[in-house]
This record gives sequence, structure tokens and C-alpha cells, in this order.
Amino acid sequence: MNKGMKLFLVVLLGLALAIGVVGCGGAKKEEAKTTFDKIKEEGKLVVGCSADYKPFEYPNEDGKIVGFDVEFMKAVGEELGLEVEFTDTAFDGLIPSLKSKKFDVIASAMTITDKRAKTVDFSQPYFNAGQVIAVKEGSNDVKKPEDLAGKVVGVQLGTTGDLKASEIEDIKKVKRYQKITQAFIELRNERIDAVVNDLPVTAAYIMDNPDVKIIGKPFTEENYGIAMRKGDDELEKKINKTIKKLKENGTYDELYNKWFK
Ligand code: ARG
Repeated sequence: MNKGMKLFLVVLLGLALAIGVVGCGGAKKEEAKTTFDKIKEEGKLVVGCSADYKPFEYPNEDGKIVGFDVEFMKAVGEELGLEVEFTDTAFDGLIPSLKSKKFDVIASAMTITDKRAKTVDFSQPYFNAGQVIAVKEGSNDVKKPEDLAGKVVGVQLGTTGDLKASEIEDIKKVKRYQKITQAFIELRNERIDAVVNDLPVTAAYIMDNPDVKIIGKPFTEENYGIAMRKGDDELEKKINKTIKKLKENGTYDELYNKWFK
């Protein structure tokens, strides 16, 4: 091999290596980027919710989404140095939208259930609730869930209220609404006999609409969690750590007292 050829080969080898290294490096970086890396980079956590659920997430007079979940997630964001932005989606579309990366997490008074936990990961529980029956003030024949036999019951599509009402035997019909507020309007207009829904939200509705009343005590025990895509372990760890901190340092209690006392 003459000198010229040797030099040519060395240059060629060098080039190949350089391309290879740069190429691999680039590809590797992309692959290793976790959801948390992306969130950190953008400085923003995007949260999906169904904004029909006062006092957890609902529009104020200016149309801004406010509520306990909003302030709770803002507190989480603050600890992590992130801005928090809420976006509104129908409740039954939340998990599919999370999976297709329309947002990073769901905070929507979402109950941790075994079925949901097969498709998403949940944070540690952050709120305790249960289903209650609501009827129109003045109606007296429903005292317990079994009394809903023969009745038309309104629920929010895809919620645990939907699930629980659908399990009650001999129910005449379960009417499923996109928003829980629609179910309550139908109840007040006497187009349905009862609404099955989470206690804190039904209680808040009644404060504004005293022509509706709650029957008995909650008949389920449920815990709300922040939902994340499976595999977003770093994000989950950060969120769990922060929830723990907010519970310990009094921030959680402050928010709880503001929204529920
Ligand atoms: N806790 C119930 C569930 O997980 C109802 C949640 C409804 N949330 C809402 N923002 N509308 O199914």
C-alpha cells in the first residue's frame, strides 16, 4: 500500500467513525428522553381533566379552570419548578388522550381502580371519596341503592358512578351524560329519578341548588390518584415524593380547608 492510499484509508475510517458516533449519539439521546426530561425541558406540566366537577375542576366566571385539583397540581408543580397548565377533555376520553400524549398526567378526581390501573399508573392516593345517590327534594321512595330498581338513574359516562349504578339489579335505565352537570339538570327537570356520583361534588352541587338532596351515606369507598402513562416511572416517583411532602408540610391541609370546609 502506498502512502497516498494509506492516508486515504485513515481519513475514510475517521469519517466513518465520526458519522457513526454522531449518528448513534443523536439516536441514543432521543430514545433516552423520558416524559420527565421533556417536562423539565419545557418547564411545563400539562394536565388533562374533565372540567365539570366542582370543587375539583370547573370553569370560573371567566372560563378559567379552577378547583382543588388545579391548586393541588399547581403546588406539586411549584415544588418541581414547573408551570402547570390544565386542559379540558370529556371524562371518558381522558385515558385515551393521556395515552396519545395530549397531556402528561390526569388530575380529574379520578378514582384508582384495578381496571384503570391495567392501562395507566396511579400516584399515591390524594383524596378519599365515595358514591352517593341524589334525588329531587321532596321525593321519598329511595332510601338505599337497591331502591333504584325500576328507576332511571343519571351518571357521568365512564365514571365509577356509571359502573356502580350499572351493577344495581333491575335498574330501569342508566342514562350516561358527558358531563355530570347535565345529569343534575335532568334530575331537577324530573326527566330522571336519581343521580349517582361522588359525594364531595354532589354536596357542592346541592349548596348551589337546594332543590336536590343526598340520600344516606356513601355506598362505595374510593381513592383519587394522579394518572400517568405506564413506564413514566421517574415522573411517578417525583409526583409521589411531592404529594408526601405537601401532606407533611401543611400545604395539603391548607388546600383541603380552603375547598372543603
Ligand atoms: N371519581 C369518579 C371516577 O373516577 C368520577 C370522576 C369524575 N371526574 C370529573 N372530573 N368529572 O370515575
